[in-house]
Amino acid sequence: MNFDQSHALFRRATAVIPGGIYGHTTPAATIPGAVPYFASEGFGCRYRDIDGHAFIDFMGGYGPMILGYHHPEVEAAAEAARRLGAAFNQPTPLLVELAEKLVARIDFADWAVFGKNGGDLTTWAVQVAREVTARPKILKITGAYHGADAWCTPGHGGLLPEDRAHIHDFPFNNVTALEALFAQHRGQVAGLILTPFHHPAYADSQLPTPEFTAACNRLCREHGALLILDDVRCGFRLSTDGSHTVYGYKPDLAIYCKALANGHPISACVGRAAHKAAASRVFLTGSYWNDPAPMAAALACLDIIARDDIPQKLARTGQRFIDGFLALGIKHGIPLVASGPPAMPYVRVADDPSLLRTQNLCAAAIAHGVFLHPHHNWFISAAMTDADIDEALLKLDTALATLR
Ligand SMILES: Cc1ncc(COP(=O)(O)O)c(C=O)c1O
Repeated sequence: MNFDQSHALFRRATAVIPGGIYGHTTPAATIPGAVPYFASEGFGCRYRDIDGHAFIDFMGGYGPMILGYHHPEVEAAAEAARRLGAAFNQPTPLLVELAEKLVARIDFADWAVFGKNGGDLTTWAVQVAREVTARPKILKITGAYHGADAWCTPGHGGLLPEDRAHIHDFPFNNVTALEALFAQHRGQVAGLILTPFHHPAYADSQLPTPEFTAACNRLCREHGALLILDDVRCGFRLSTDGSHTVYGYKPDLAIYCKALANGHPISACVGRAAHKAAASRVFLTGSYWNDPAPMAAALACLDIIARDDIPQKLARTGQRFIDGFLALGIKHGIPLVASGPPAMPYVRVADDPSLLRTQNLCAAAIAHGVFLHPHHNWFISAAMTDADIDEALLKLDTALATLR
């Protein structure tokens, strides 16, 4: 498999775009030359790169494509809204309908607001916590990703020490460290932000212990801090009504994005009645944030997720894939380690501290038509049938044989 068109376009890109391709899709994170750099089209659980190669896609745009590319019902809903116009002077009724749907769906939610990206609203939620409490400190998990704003970006450029002056990290599942931070900053903590389970890049996923979720709930309550659940990546993938119900969190604010509208740009933050007045005082807007088409897509997507119990389907399909993939690892003498829920597994080669063997594994998978990322959790798509999984495993069987 060669990626000549991808490489040629990447050289053009480097002339006019800093880094050529930036952010999480940068080719710098994978083996140079072994992966496609540019996509052209996608249908269902498959997409093509600009060299014409087809892949069974286990990344789904890093999460958004929960139902698969070109889902007919979602696209029809978005198209119907788009035909009426875009980015009006006022919101359309879809804004209210979508807020009502989330409030009805999510047990603790009394209100909802909308942005475009996850980071728009994780940052806003942090401000809401500060507005509610009139306190500065935010506690977060070491290595967790919440977006590209200064308070949380994993990047290094352009930052000031002040940007993080009130952000304090602690390790996931570590109740003692969390208690210590609350004690050290008594009366100063506005909020605790965390993802439902810990899904860092370049490392195994960790599910929360029951003691940890209970401690998050209890300590936030005792100290008058808001519990902010960043459900951007997991939301509506693990359950139809928000991931807090899976693990027992009692959030004050929760942010959703990736699975909300099957690829259409929209994010949401929901919260409790007690914080509604404070939320209305934290300025929130963007040029395209009232665009109705993504709202129509979100309404359709949320309906399908509930109607077809998509989380249950993803879990079953994911388990089938993981079981098959781990068995292939044993067959080919390549021990694999899987972590995280089956709907969004993180898989690596065991005893691979440099992660090079995992990179080679994913490069071989890609060369055989299965798109896997070496350092990020994968995303099972509801468009994947058992036949798609079997085909992927057959291709991976051949791919792993080349690595022996
Ligand atoms: C858990 C989590 N929070 C926040 C974000 C930021 O979302 P966005 O990239 O849409 O701003 C992401 C993106 O991957 C995420 O996975």
